[in-house]
Amino acid sequence: MKHRLLICCLAALALGQVCIPLTASAKDNAPKIEATVHLDQEGDPIHPFIHGMFTELLGNMFENGIWAEMLSDRKFFYPVDNSETLTPRNSKGHQLRWRPVGPESAVQMDKENAYVGKQSPKINVASGKAGIRQAGLWLAKGRSYDGRIVIRGEGSVKVSISLVWGNGSSDKQTVVLDDLKNNYKKYLFTFTAGADVRDAALEIVGEGSGSFEVGAVSLMPSDNIEGFRADLVAILKEIGSPIYRWPGGNFLSGYEWRDGIGDPDQRPPRYDYAWNTVESNDMGTDEYLTWCRLLGSEPYLVVNTGFGDAYSAAQWVEYVNGAESTPMGRLRAKNGHPAPYGVVYWGVGNEGYGEWQLGHMSSEHYVLKHNYFGEAMLEKDPNIKLIASGASVPEQSSQYRNYHKPYQTSLPVEFMGYFDWSGQLLKGSLDYIDYISEHIYPNSSAYFDLESQSWVRTQFDFLEQIRLCTNRVKNSVEAMDKYEELIPGLKEKHVPYWIDEWAPGRGRGFGGTISAAVTLHEMYRYSHYVMMAGLTSVGSLYTSNDVKATISATGLLFKLYIEHQGDIPLGLTGNSPQKAMKGTAFIDIPLEPSGSPTYPLDIVATKDSKSGKVMVTVANPTEETQSFALTFDGGKPGTSVKVYALAPDKMEDLITVDEPNKIQVQTRTEKFNKNITVAPNSVTMYEFTFK
Ligand code: AHR
Repeated sequence: MKHRLLICCLAALALGQVCIPLTASAKDNAPKIEATVHLDQEGDPIHPFIHGMFTELLGNMFENGIWAEMLSDRKFFYPVDNSETLTPRNSKGHQLRWRPVGPESAVQMDKENAYVGKQSPKINVASGKAGIRQAGLWLAKGRSYDGRIVIRGEGSVKVSISLVWGNGSSDKQTVVLDDLKNNYKKYLFTFTAGADVRDAALEIVGEGSGSFEVGAVSLMPSDNIEGFRADLVAILKEIGSPIYRWPGGNFLSGYEWRDGIGDPDQRPPRYDYAWNTVESNDMGTDEYLTWCRLLGSEPYLVVNTGFGDAYSAAQWVEYVNGAESTPMGRLRAKNGHPAPYGVVYWGVGNEGYGEWQLGHMSSEHYVLKHNYFGEAMLEKDPNIKLIASGASVPEQSSQYRNYHKPYQTSLPVEFMGYFDWSGQLLKGSLDYIDYISEHIYPNSSAYFDLESQSWVRTQFDFLEQIRLCTNRVKNSVEAMDKYEELIPGLKEKHVPYWIDEWAPGRGRGFGGTISAAVTLHEMYRYSHYVMMAGLTSVGSLYTSNDVKATISATGLLFKLYIEHQGDIPLGLTGNSPQKAMKGTAFIDIPLEPSGSPTYPLDIVATKDSKSGKVMVTVANPTEETQSFALTFDGGKPGTSVKVYALAPDKMEDLITVDEPNKIQVQTRTEKFNKNITVAPNSVTMYEFTFK
């Protein structure tokens, strides 16, 4: 011991430092956690797509969300009346109603000459003023709004369109249409809001003699960017997620892509049986590809293998990628997009294995269906890459909690058996698979007990919660190892995962961000197997109301990682293994604990192959300050380290539109002396340079 101390003193003197012998209490204060980065242990490159996003035509993700349209049901799927409830029901959280102005009987739904969809409201003004209105619009004072209406009239009817923000006679702006024709015509108008209000209304009211009929109506803030909310485009562009998946999700299995092209006012609103809501189809293929262009992101389209068919999927490939001389390419050009988009990544279906999926079928039949799709799609464009809709043994088994009982099999499902969805696809469809998808939605309130074959309810503490996703990442990787053993030709072909849906446990406030961080770390560790990941969902990157938006803590995390994480994962060892959790291998836990051996911290090291810089990122999920000793095997870093820290005061802290700076990335430079101290509830990235 003495001998070691002497060496330490000599070394310190050589460096011009004062040597202070360790006293008993200084020894006690030395960090107990040790981590060593092995500079010569390089993993496969981390694909940028790991920082991807999942989006779906679901809830208010696009409608009354990213898409700037402010009106609900702008093409009148529902009748305009005073009824309490909507039939069929509508599960959207933000769904405004059209109501009659004047007598309800003056508004009839015209089903014979509907402009779009199944009906259009026809308003008879014979008995005085009558019309329709939608209230609940949120306006910002001085902001300008662009409107559009498709309307026709009979007799001599004068229609006033008003944006109303109060009860006074001057609390509105109005445009008058007094030249309506029997045929539908489109009119444009612009309003400027005179107040900040949350319950403004758009009113369309006629007077005179005769009737008028509204085919479609739209209202958007004038600063929208090609139909998207300008503030959200700016935030998401700044974050720079490299790939977006669209249009689903469960929604996809009932989606008819042809409903979402051409004049948006003429695209039919359709009932969405996956989510029990209505899809306006305003956000269609060309809009999605515009979205990707605006953000500079790679598109990843997914075709409908639920109620859909191979022919339609191939037509979609042709619409998107076909030359202008092809029938679908011609249609695309007619819709204003002559140049093929050249979309490379195409998903084939979504969660076909699940009972909840429209068009769910046996694995045997699904393998055949996948092959029909693959063949037809590749015929239209041999350059596309196909992502099969898989579910490994762990995904399939852990999703069994959602199945109707009695379950048809014991869990985990048998590798390569009838219920092993990914196993069956990888065996029977390998020629039509480049990558295979996996979804990670762990059970957050139960673990699986093998013996009793049941989910046992439990309350995971936060340090366990953050392991739910990492456990599933790791056990999916373990499953792929098994598939490579069991399926001839698979190892040689190498089919990486596209974890194109994953949702970190929410935790409290910043807890969700820590959970996202450690899940990304786990994916970096297995970069050989995980090529792409899609966070569920893009909405986690920002927080917004109808008039304001700001980046969220998870958005800051993604921006930080996208900008600064290196592309090469490095080996990391430690002296403090993560705790084993209850559960069952190949269902909810891996064979060995996930995460780094630096409990309770999660540490990952990556290297930037261009600059040679090494990033060591530490997630501290505890509410205490933590320290650890960091060494590098194979090199000596400079003594100055750049630090990027996301460290809110409290775990509960959240960014809101009213407190956009509540959490920020703090940057500073620190002296590196082996011991590192990280703040409570934090994610901190250390940037080391090597000579
Ligand atoms: O919450 C999103 C849904 O979860 C997706 O639509 C589906 O693919 C998954 O089950």
